[in-house]
Amino acid sequence: MSLDLVIAGGTLATAADVFRADVGVRDGRIVAIGEDLGAARERIDATGRYVLPGGIDSHVHLAQPSGEGIVMADGFESGTRSALFGGNTCILPFCLQQKGHSLREALQGYHALAEGNCYTDVSFHLIVSDPTQAVLGQELPALVEDGYTSFKVFMTYEDLRLNDAEILATMDTARRTGALVMVHCENEDAIRYLIGRHEAAGEIAPRAHASTRPIAVEREATHRALSLAEITEVPVVIVHVSNGAAMEEIARARSRGIKVVGETCPQYLMLTASDLDGMDWEGAKFVCSPPPRNAAEQEACWRGIETGVFDLFSSDHCPFRYDDPAGKLNPKGRTNFRHIPNGIPGVETRLPILFSEGVMKGRIDLQRFVALTSTNHARTYGLADKGSIAIGKDADIAIWDPRETRTIRHADLHDGADYSPYEGLAVTGWPTTVIVGGRVMVREGALTGAKGTGRYVARARSHLSAPRPAATVGA
Ligand code: URP
Ligand code: ZN
Ligand code: ZN
Repeated sequence: MSLDLVIAGGTLATAADVFRADVGVRDGRIVAIGEDLGAARERIDATGRYVLPGGIDSHVHLAQPSGEGIVMADGFESGTRSALFGGNTCILPFCLQQKGHSLREALQGYHALAEGNCYTDVSFHLIVSDPTQAVLGQELPALVEDGYTSFKVFMTYEDLRLNDAEILATMDTARRTGALVMVHCENEDAIRYLIGRHEAAGEIAPRAHASTRPIAVEREATHRALSLAEITEVPVVIVHVSNGAAMEEIARARSRGIKVVGETCPQYLMLTASDLDGMDWEGAKFVCSPPPRNAAEQEACWRGIETGVFDLFSSDHCPFRYDDPAGKLNPKGRTNFRHIPNGIPGVETRLPILFSEGVMKGRIDLQRFVALTSTNHARTYGLADKGSIAIGKDADIAIWDPRETRTIRHADLHDGADYSPYEGLAVTGWPTTVIVGGRVMVREGALTGAKGTGRYVARARSHLSAPRPAATVGA
């Protein structure tokens, strides 16, 4: 039977190998890897290009309720379009449980927003903000069975934070059900204390956001989260790690036998707290939590990427428009940093930044790039059909031109924000053609696929949570 698509002449990379081969696609799946694959309805010449698994961004916020009068800049249409142009074929946004409401209710609304609007595949993490007995005893276990196999808990934000008892109870549900817990590690009480001191001293500009969330706030919470995971015996993901001290906690926990996955993001490699100093409140563009640190911590994060402390490189895309009363410069936000919504856009620039700063500058090889941006996300979050170029996997592929040089300009991006934190950054290498489930969605930089092509994907349990089957040898 002939093929639907052949990608010919390119250099393939997986998390393990780099090699020259053609890729054959039929019915949305990779069915052949080799030479002279024969006839196909369509042929893409990838000579001089890298053929990589499509990016999986496992930390994205879209259409998330963000407080009164605040509107996130991306829903599923613009968010997945932006992700697609940045070389991603699947993203994992968070479905937020509002206090007093059920998770099912939240999911119903979230699915309705996604349905028919996605350019990439999507799957959802849950955010548990109200861990009642009914939620932990009945709802969550049923949802894990239904393929929502990971949930995030917060140690900060007044309206989201869980106390230690609630985190323990939530982790215990994860242990019983084989789910994975993601933890936002910052000590809310310590932040409140520091905000009080800063406000008393009249320090209310965006820069105070970074000073009220120092490294100790993150390090302490990271240590506590890992201790709670140790006590409950569950694997955890420590998300958006910003500094070396928190990394040390992860490394120490691993040496005690705790199953922990570390995640970092472009902002911790490319931005510093001084970016929050901008004139005319422009520092608000860089307000995210944890905040960016300094050059030494950037280097520490690079070491974590190189040495394996980090398994995941995600965007934490959490977009708000800057010059907008529903965004960063909302009426309260323009007078006090406490009211600036936390989060920055970055789903489209995540991969080009790591490719350019990591691969092209010789800090990591192509295999590690693929692991950090695709394969490890699939394995960690139970996306069994994704994350590699291998027979039987979904044909989710990004074809990169390693020679293409670009200067990042928001005007060229596809998200709903009105700025990029990386404006003016020169990068080398860009994903020029992007294929989702065998469909060419972006061809040489132009949109060719339709909204609604992206599907919702239910997930298996993480390889960290799932019981390990005994090894068998085929007959
Ligand atoms: O500032 C951030 N990171 N906002 C997004 C929400 C989160 O904590 O991931
Ligand atoms: Zn977070
Ligand atoms: Zn986030």
